[in-house]
Amino acid sequence: MEQADLIWHNGELVAWEDAKVHVLTHGLHYGTGVFEGERAYETPQGTAIFRHHDHLARLLKSAELYYMPLPYTLEELRAATHELIAANGLTQCYIRPIAFRGYGQMGLYPLDCEVSVSIAAWPWGAYLGEESKVEGIRAKVSSWRRISADSLIPQSKASGQYLNSVLAKVEASKAGYQEAILLDSRGFVCEGSGENIYVVRDGQIITPPATASILDGISRQSILTIARDLGREVVQRDLARAELYLADEVFLSGTAAELVPVREIDDHIIGDGDAGGPVTRELQRVYDDALHGRDARYTEWLDVVKVPSKAV
Ligand SMILES: Cc1ncc(COP(=O)(O)O)c(C=O)c1O
Repeated sequence: MEQADLIWHNGELVAWEDAKVHVLTHGLHYGTGVFEGERAYETPQGTAIFRHHDHLARLLKSAELYYMPLPYTLEELRAATHELIAANGLTQCYIRPIAFRGYGQMGLYPLDCEVSVSIAAWPWGAYLGEESKVEGIRAKVSSWRRISADSLIPQSKASGQYLNSVLAKVEASKAGYQEAILLDSRGFVCEGSGENIYVVRDGQIITPPATASILDGISRQSILTIARDLGREVVQRDLARAELYLADEVFLSGTAAELVPVREIDDHIIGDGDAGGPVTRELQRVYDDALHGRDARYTEWLDVVKVPSKAV
């Protein structure tokens, strides 16, 4: 992976290679951490973090759901992220804030362990490859089901929960596919290992509802808003597996991957086999404009990084 110079760790900027934890860190043993994935893009207004407030609000919510009060406010984390990006001299980057139960107590009861918070930012291209956005990807329905709401909290972006995504990703990758699609515990379509999923059929955009155990993606919220603004009909309902194969278009969205067409699922060609039909392409274009500050309708989603003026 590419590196940057500095990482923000518990209120201080430390050298990238010095951002270390003890091997008895609670979060390492029991997955007691929560994190975010965000991106900053170059825009006409300067480097801007996309929906920064919404990502940090989700981080705080994810933590609260696991009884993990953070020692920093949303505003403090926002300012820390700006400071970090400016100190690293990054103009566009991926941003990974993580809060986790630290070193001090072992055993499953976590509430006596102190909470650490780190923020890293570094240059990272599209998660499924830059070409995935043009060519589309091949995906496989996983034999692993998405974690269900009766044993974990799918709405929380919690570290330990990602073992589920890891199993699905490894299985799909070993079988020669680029991404896994997980069904929920009821057998309905849920999401990718790190992306939400959408089907386009007869002009309608259909995506699973929150009751399908999805992570309510911030890209998802943005894309649904854009779709409605474009006059598209959006339906949130359970999707049967075969509806994937019968779709005119299928696409995925996530901060890391951005908006990616799916051209094949379980060796069924989607639609006419073109990577990305007209609805996907239109959404992809407007979403990309929103990310890069080129669409005035969505500039309120941008948190422009204040680069401190250099001392003279
Ligand atoms: C399991 C899962 N679903 C969906 C998403 C998409 O969420 P977002 O659009 O907020 O990045 C992600 C990525 O964070 C994810 O890990």
